[in-house]
Amino acid sequence: MTQLFTPFSVRGVTFRNRLVVSPMCQYAAEDGFVAEWHVEHHSRLALGGIGGAIVEATGVVPEGRITPGCLGIWSDEHIEGLKRITAIYRRHRAPVGIQIGHAGRKASASLPWEGARPLATAAPEKAWQTVGPSALPHSDGWPEPHELTVEEIAGLVEAFAEATRRALAAGFDFVEIHGAHGYLIHSFLAPVSNRRTDGYGGDLAGRMRFALEIAEAVRAVLPADRPLFYRTSAVDHVEGGVQLADTIALAKALKECGVDVIDCSSGGIAGALIKPNTPEVAGHQIPYAAAIRAEAGIATMAVGGITEPAQAEAVVAEGKADLVAIARELLADSNFPYRAANTLGAADPEGILPLVYDFYLKRRKGIAWR
Ligand SMILES: Cc1cc2nc3c(=O)[nH]c(=O)nc-3n(C[C@H](O)[C@H](O)[C@H](O)COP(=O)(O)O)c2cc1C
Repeated sequence: MTQLFTPFSVRGVTFRNRLVVSPMCQYAAEDGFVAEWHVEHHSRLALGGIGGAIVEATGVVPEGRITPGCLGIWSDEHIEGLKRITAIYRRHRAPVGIQIGHAGRKASASLPWEGARPLATAAPEKAWQTVGPSALPHSDGWPEPHELTVEEIAGLVEAFAEATRRALAAGFDFVEIHGAHGYLIHSFLAPVSNRRTDGYGGDLAGRMRFALEIAEAVRAVLPADRPLFYRTSAVDHVEGGVQLADTIALAKALKECGVDVIDCSSGGIAGALIKPNTPEVAGHQIPYAAAIRAEAGIATMAVGGITEPAQAEAVVAEGKADLVAIARELLADSNFPYRAANTLGAADPEGILPLVYDFYLKRRKGIAWR
């Protein structure tokens, strides 16, 4: 009996299976607005039987975008375009969330296929001033960020709350806070990027404070029946980076703030490697999802190098995570959920597809349409 194709409910939202579209920047926006490409991309992903989806990292303020091509949610004018994405997933029975974030000192970067380099040197006319917990550049060649004042921090917490209000207006079923990959929230948590001496730095409680204030502010806007996800970089593997024990403590505190699911990624803070970089192995982050789930007593989503149905099935069946996020394999094959349902012997693989596909594919198999 497959566990991957069982429903998962969190607050008032039910995912009909455990497979979720992982947030993926499309670099197709102008001034943060949804483009036709986003509609095409999400339509393709919504048609293959996916259980849920999370829309890409979306800037809560213009300076919070990673690149000039990233989505934004800093004004009410962004709501109309985002509604086009939520309508797609609603039609195809998949709850959809949006990842709201701020890229901090890694913002103002060029597009991946233009090198993902700081715009300050790659294209100064397009660059903007970056911000961080401390005036420490991300790495060599990156500009020095402006050290945020306490007033500016409060303004950003409010920007996350406002973004949540707009996400609800756009029809999102849930929200994910982007706390990973060396972006602003993660850079507050990691000692190597946070040298503050006020209440937002120092010990773990101080370095967690920005994350917790955002989680509280977002939760206060979300109705009680809407889930809140948080993407974490569970481990950094650099000196002065985040350790798994820090993340477990953070997950416990986030749970107290009303976070429901920890989406377990890793890395993104630059620094001296603790151990030599080894090639990424399939599913290398799954143990973090398992440890956080067991130690913090909170639901988790596993992500990273999950490309095979049996591998995804094992994550859920072995109790390592509650949900499985897939990014690149869905770019390769947006029918991955249908393929997995067949491979794993799910009760009604075609039943996860749109009606016309369901009908004709069952007929091809010689199965009477239910
Ligand atoms: C095109 C692309 C864009 C991405 N954009 C985001 C993003 O907006 N936010 C995020 O947290 N991770 C982002 N990621 C990382 C993925 O969500 C995922 O964690 C990573 O690709 C590992 O999963 P995979 O092996 O299934 O691809 C992106 C990955 C890809 C390939």
